Amino acid sequence: MAWTSRPVKTLSGAIRAPGDKSCSHRALIFGGLAEGTSRFSGLLEGDDVLRTGTAMAALGADVKRLGGGDWEVTGVGARGLSSPADVLDFGNSGTGSRLMMGVMAGHALTASLTGDKSLCSRPMNRILTPLRQMGLTDTAAPDGRLPFAITGSKTLKAITYAPPQASAQVKSAVLLAGLSANGTTIVEEAKPTRDHTERMLRGFGAEVGVERAAGQPVRISIRGGQRLHAIDADIPGDPSSAAFLVAAGILSSDGDVQVDGVMSNPTRSGFYDAANLMGAHLGAEEAGDAAGERLINIAAGPARLKGIHVPEHLVPAMIDEFPILAVLAAFAEGETIVTGAEELRVKESDRIGATVAMLRANGVEAEETPDGFIVQGCAGKVPGGGLVETHHDHRIAMSALIMGTAAMNPVSVDDISMIDTSYPDFLAHMATLGADISEG
Ligand code: S3P
Repeated sequence: MAWTSRPVKTLSGAIRAPGDKSCSHRALIFGGLAEGTSRFSGLLEGDDVLRTGTAMAALGADVKRLGGGDWEVTGVGARGLSSPADVLDFGNSGTGSRLMMGVMAGHALTASLTGDKSLCSRPMNRILTPLRQMGLTDTAAPDGRLPFAITGSKTLKAITYAPPQASAQVKSAVLLAGLSANGTTIVEEAKPTRDHTERMLRGFGAEVGVERAAGQPVRISIRGGQRLHAIDADIPGDPSSAAFLVAAGILSSDGDVQVDGVMSNPTRSGFYDAANLMGAHLGAEEAGDAAGERLINIAAGPARLKGIHVPEHLVPAMIDEFPILAVLAAFAEGETIVTGAEELRVKESDRIGATVAMLRANGVEAEETPDGFIVQGCAGKVPGGGLVETHHDHRIAMSALIMGTAAMNPVSVDDISMIDTSYPDFLAHMATLGADISEG
């Protein structure tokens, strides 16, 4: 069923950012592997994360949802997971399925994995290739698409692996398998990606080595056989979800949007850097810390934006933010160019194709390139009036609805149900700010 976002003049208010999706997955997974009972607050209760919790429970961890983002997880200890009775269905979640494959690789268990149509079309060979080198066996067809079954091993071999793509999911799957391999596993990253696995594993008591030398890949190492201990942690706010609210504040013609408690981590802050390069003048105020991450409150108000060539070094740190960046580019004066972002082709949708189609459907000139896109900005006057095909991609849906708040005509999307995968409170938060979004 279609939903429509109508133009509004003012958007204002303060919103607490929802719990970070990447950290929430990892909290449930690492808590389930640790000895003792971990307590988490502010956990994101989106469908993707709930499915990771269900999977950990099916493998033997005791996972309790206490309500309001509070969770208690009692772990099974090192190598304590066992075969699940049923198929593990990861829904829409690349992160849940890929990280869990790394975890299961080091356990003597067999599990069948599946997901929704989008997840079953996404590449898994990038995970299967290194895990097979370590000792995983599987029933995947040559194209590596889900569904398939995997069988782990208690005698995994440590490897040194340089992922061909910049992917935190690949890095994390290899490190998590390495946690129960014989020897020290090393991942060499040419382009640094989000580092939540490294940071959070340390919080749970593991030693993780990180070596950085100028001009060299980052070398991340983990010794097999380490034990994790339970922790208590608040989950930091999600900079990727906050980006939608911040963009809404920037595009409003009058207003003042504040998003509180947002994780400020250099491996995630590319969107904010790019928005400031475009002229957004975002405010940032220190707001303490959570789970070892610095937090900030971000203030966003109306700004005249100009197009930029997004610096390629920012790409991994804003890999989930290109659809909303494209919306900012549509309102900017001049051309915005994105390059070096070929990974967008294999996200929840082909995000290069879906983003360009979203803009064109609303009267904005935009074109695809193999590794990015080019947008001709409308200097504040985006025609709107289009119906956007979301391709079951939550970030396309939210980006299009934000575009509708500031375009000259309403913007509709074909579906919003998948927004629940990452940001179940999105519509409620937008209503609090004064947006006019409704069914039909
Ligand atoms: C994530 C890694 C990224 C990102 C995804 C979350 C993670 O995927 O797009 O939303 O939590 O590790 P890739 O590893 O495919 O880049």
